[in-house]
Amino acid sequence: MKKVEISLSLIEANDVSELAPSEQELIKISRQMTTRAYAPYSGFYVGAAVLLENGEIVLGSNQENAAYPSGLCAERVAVFAASAKYPDIKIKAIAISGNSKSRDIDHPVTPCGACRQVLLEYEIKQEVPVKVYLSGHSGKIYIIENVQDLLPLSFTSKELESL
Ligand code: THU
Repeated sequence: MKKVEISLSLIEANDVSELAPSEQELIKISRQMTTRAYAPYSGFYVGAAVLLENGEIVLGSNQENAAYPSGLCAERVAVFAASAKYPDIKIKAIAISGNSKSRDIDHPVTPCGACRQVLLEYEIKQEVPVKVYLSGHSGKIYIIENVQDLLPLSFTSKELESL
């Protein structure tokens, strides 16, 4: 037996002002998108901005429903919309921001497991890394170079190949 360590490396910025103007813009848009969440049940607002290789930015916010599991996270709303509109255009990056009804979130919000799984599928499909920017309403930003790093030991279509 041996101990195996899988580590995540990320870049931490203290504030958006430390980033390039184009990165600041993407994060600003994802923060604005938190105001378009439909989240009357949780009061937790998430915005997502997907930057495509053609320069277009596709937007998403979390959408809840009285039948709770019918709702969808902001990341999946954005990435599914991007794939539906531009099935063959690669995703360069996604910015994800969170805020809440009761207090301003001052730390990076991290995507749920299901969203990591969905983002990973597109990253594998396009064979180009998707850069991930995580933030709150204010404060630090986390930058992760690719989705794979966010989901170690992931389940992928490779497992289904020999079936
Ligand atoms: N949510 C997202 O939109 N993205 C995530 O990655 C985590 C959670 C939403 C789903 C739900 O509307 C609310 O946040 C509380 O879970």
